[in-house]
Amino acid sequence: MKKLVQKQEPIAKEQLIRLLLTLQEDATTAIDESAEPIDQLKLTWLGKESEFAKLASSMRTIKPEDKQQIGAVLNGVKKSIEQALSSKLTVNSSQKTQHEDWFDTTAPGDLPPQGHLHIVTQAIEEIMTIFNKIGFTRVRHPEVDSDYFAFEALNMPKNHPARDEWETFFIDSQEIKVKNNILSKLVLTPHTSNGQVREMEKGKLPIRMINIAKCYRRQSDISHVPMFHQFEGMYIDKNVSIGHLKGFIDYFVKHFFGSERKSRLRPFHFQFTEPSFEVDISCGICNGRGCRFCKEGWLELAGSGMIHPNVLKYGGIDSNTYSGFAIGWGVERTYMMKSGIQLDDIRLIYGNDIRFLKQF
Ligand code: PHE
Repeated sequence: MKKLVQKQEPIAKEQLIRLLLTLQEDATTAIDESAEPIDQLKLTWLGKESEFAKLASSMRTIKPEDKQQIGAVLNGVKKSIEQALSSKLTVNSSQKTQHEDWFDTTAPGDLPPQGHLHIVTQAIEEIMTIFNKIGFTRVRHPEVDSDYFAFEALNMPKNHPARDEWETFFIDSQEIKVKNNILSKLVLTPHTSNGQVREMEKGKLPIRMINIAKCYRRQSDISHVPMFHQFEGMYIDKNVSIGHLKGFIDYFVKHFFGSERKSRLRPFHFQFTEPSFEVDISCGICNGRGCRFCKEGWLELAGSGMIHPNVLKYGGIDSNTYSGFAIGWGVERTYMMKSGIQLDDIRLIYGNDIRFLKQF
């Protein structure tokens, strides 16, 4: 930058105007092109030591009659330098905005990852929605219960061989007193049927219950987990027949699996039902014709039967007036049969691997 004024000496009006206009031009181009910070530029071009300041101070040496004109030019020059500075400021900050700290306050934020209900919980909710519609409501009974409710009251006295089917975990604790001061061991409930007599003991009839609970058996392989879920339906009223049981099953099968699916009862044996049945549903893949998946067109779904009179007696219900059915399923198995998921290893359901669970 060339020095325009060396020292303070009287200066002709025309010269001063020329100097001021040259300064204006120099300043605005320099500001435009400079990479220096705004504050620095302001100091250089308008500060106390600036050419502008020096020219302004020469006003003192101007003839009074010229002061007004020079004053106007001075103001004009100052304004255009200030303008150059302020437009530089906007350009700078808008460049910064685009490239550095630009933050769009209207953009939706990054949502934290959202979880969802576990597949088993989803299945339970769906099952309950279906049964609620026909007046069956969910009840809960202990998942650590006495041997009495899990076996004895279900017509399986101590040491009865039928108990072997339930590979039961016994709790290493003192026996507890149950009805009539009978002493009974504690077990992790191996099935939801422990809820049958407990529900009867509430003393309210008719009974339309769905008992869903965790069940435990000493088993762990690709198709078994030691903890799984069962749901148990029970209906007790006057004149309940196998026809009601079949209707109950068909209603569920059609609503849960689809209207084209069929069910069948196959004779079986349980100590606590008489007669007893295993329930099959037609295979969803071959529609009951038989395929590699199902072999004969049917898939085993549940155990069921008409409640044994001895069990009704344990529950304090007169078996001459009342009858009922009970049916028990595995939630995990039922859900897998619906979705057509063929898990190589059922233990994946409880492995807590987020990559697996996310798929449902
Ligand atoms: N509790 C039986 C089981 O775990 C199933 C069942 C329930 C059978 C109700 C008959 C009646 O296999």
